[in-house]
Amino acid sequence: MEKNKLLELVSEMTLEEKAMQMTQLVPDMLYHLAPANLTGPTRQWHFTDRQLQCAGSVLGKSGAAYLKKLQADYLKDARLPIPLLFMADVIHGYETILPIPLAQGCSFDPELVEENAAAVAREAAAAGLHVTFSPMADLVRDPRWGRVMESCGEDPYLNGQMAAATVRGYQGKDPGEKGKIAACVKHFAAYGQPEGGRDYNTVDMSRGMLRDFYLPAYREAVQAGAAMVMTSFNTVERVPSTCSRLLLDRILRREWDFQGVVISDYSAVEELMNHSVAADALEAGEKSLHAGMDIEMMSGVYAASLQNLLEQGRITQEEIDTCVIRILELKNRLGLFENPCKDADEEQEQRLCGCKEHLELARKLALESMVLLKNEDVLPVSAHAPLGLAGPFADTGGLFGEWSYMGNREKTRTLREALEAVYGTQLVTAMTEPFRQSPDVPDSVEEALERFRPCELCIVAAGEPEWQTGEATSKTNLRLSPNQEKLIHALRNAGKKVVLLLFSGRPLDIAPILDAADAVLQVWFPGSAGAYAVTDILTGKYNPSGRLSMSFPRNVGQIPVYYDCYNTGRPSLDPENRFCSRYLDCPNSPLFPFGYGLSYTTFSCRGLKISEDNTTASVLVKNTGSRRGETVVQLYVRDVSASVVRPLKELKGFRRIALDAGEETEVTFRITADMLSFYNEDEQWGWEPGEFDIMVGLDSEQIEGQRVYLSPADLP
Ligand code: NOJ
Repeated sequence: MEKNKLLELVSEMTLEEKAMQMTQLVPDMLYHLAPANLTGPTRQWHFTDRQLQCAGSVLGKSGAAYLKKLQADYLKDARLPIPLLFMADVIHGYETILPIPLAQGCSFDPELVEENAAAVAREAAAAGLHVTFSPMADLVRDPRWGRVMESCGEDPYLNGQMAAATVRGYQGKDPGEKGKIAACVKHFAAYGQPEGGRDYNTVDMSRGMLRDFYLPAYREAVQAGAAMVMTSFNTVERVPSTCSRLLLDRILRREWDFQGVVISDYSAVEELMNHSVAADALEAGEKSLHAGMDIEMMSGVYAASLQNLLEQGRITQEEIDTCVIRILELKNRLGLFENPCKDADEEQEQRLCGCKEHLELARKLALESMVLLKNEDVLPVSAHAPLGLAGPFADTGGLFGEWSYMGNREKTRTLREALEAVYGTQLVTAMTEPFRQSPDVPDSVEEALERFRPCELCIVAAGEPEWQTGEATSKTNLRLSPNQEKLIHALRNAGKKVVLLLFSGRPLDIAPILDAADAVLQVWFPGSAGAYAVTDILTGKYNPSGRLSMSFPRNVGQIPVYYDCYNTGRPSLDPENRFCSRYLDCPNSPLFPFGYGLSYTTFSCRGLKISEDNTTASVLVKNTGSRRGETVVQLYVRDVSASVVRPLKELKGFRRIALDAGEETEVTFRITADMLSFYNEDEQWGWEPGEFDIMVGLDSEQIEGQRVYLSPADLP
């Protein structure tokens, strides 16, 4: 539709129609059904029939047949020909479930993430969806927060690369194209740092911290063309994001030139009253509109207040129209005026959802995202002797984690099935009862010991329940459940070799069982192809190559522990000195650092060379073991002295490379001004000439560095 036609349409809309265009509800409400699965402290908003008839978008339902009917029913009664927008949480896969985003981060492979996101878009588009509430670009440092699973981890650069790749995968060149959907990056901003790791809790940090660490990944997603942005539930600098003019107007719209649609999170406009920044719905609506909130998700503040606010002169018609135009422009960009159901097609849906090609892609990503944390000569499992398999994830299709509402657990191959296909009757199982509602599994340790009597090696598929991951799943205890720990210790005490497979949505507190395991493979929630991928690694068909996207703490008291921290005035260098920044009972370092991961081969990384003109850093990376493998070469920088404190190291580049046994290659990174830049006290972005450490290595601790003096002439 031509822009002037679109504007004409806006001029024909009543205020009520505009307010409802700016309101998102669940489809049940449009059918006058009691809405199912409400989340949050939603109040009962009373929408009139006429209002419901002109809601602008809906969330949370998919399926070509359903959405086609919904659109047809809606348009049949609509006064103006403005189609509905269909949005949903397609977070890590539609029907083909991918590994959780935190695991995807461990792949350090944005290309593969992009390819997978494109497959997700094909499925979701065929199922009738127009927009997905993904990617989540929240930086995370606190595994007590259950939503760390939805993020690509603790590093701004890695997070940004992954968020941008995901947007490109969903949207391609244009979300209006066939098989593409629009991306909605969330939760803007800094939702990943709630105090104490408690979901929805206060976020408060310096402007510099916000700009240097928390904002970059959203910006990458916006620059990659994300069509929408969702705000977060939390406050930033004492103002809820939902009505933050700093975030929405100054940073997002003006600095980043974001032209797309902003949507609130679920009932967050109404929640401004709980935050005590709005006395009533009128004030909540006024503040949100002033900040530039286009769509209010699942509350009725705009519907109830815009008319009044306008009459009282507290808002302008122009402010309302600006939002409505942005919403209609998105519908137009998706081609909905000509084709209101876009790609919804039952046949394509049937053909694409869960197809072999998508499952293969998901398997590849699952393989690259699993991280080998420990291996004392037990993996790969070579013996053709009896092999034990136990644990709540041993025989279940529940390998998805939360935010996988279209995944089919019944149809998903279990680990037992996948391992049986390789080891046949050698595989002995016990204590495989999956998690149900309770946070622990029944204790059948004695029985397991009995059954595993002939086994020298036992695989324990342990972890946290799927339902303890995702929204509203904060925890203060990150250990495995008591009966799982008991099983692991009992097997160890019985003289078995123990291979621990860890299924979790966050780094767990595994220190208490680490010594009892001979090998630990962090498999996260690996998705539809998870059992195949785990089997490929256990059998040695695939050589593990994932690297941690988030540090593992030594205990919960040490949280937050992350690699890109500032130095202090009293760094802990001398273990004898008490008066430095340290704990009495625990080292400062994590159990496993960011970027860490083992392989079935070994690699060396040496001979760091900075070019004479200071524009490149190169190292020699060699496969020093006896089999082919992949590693991730990582570039870190440190600004040795600056006008504000700078982190001890920051990831600024990475390269995933494959090397044959004995093969050596040179890996070169460009050094750019951007890598050295930060926001100074005046919020100006730039770099300050002086000394820098340029470091390259195979994880954030194993690095070789060189100090260089960089002047403006080096990096114009
Ligand atoms: C609340 C969650 O915070 C957000 O991530 C999600 O997209 C919306 N609900 C919609 O389901």
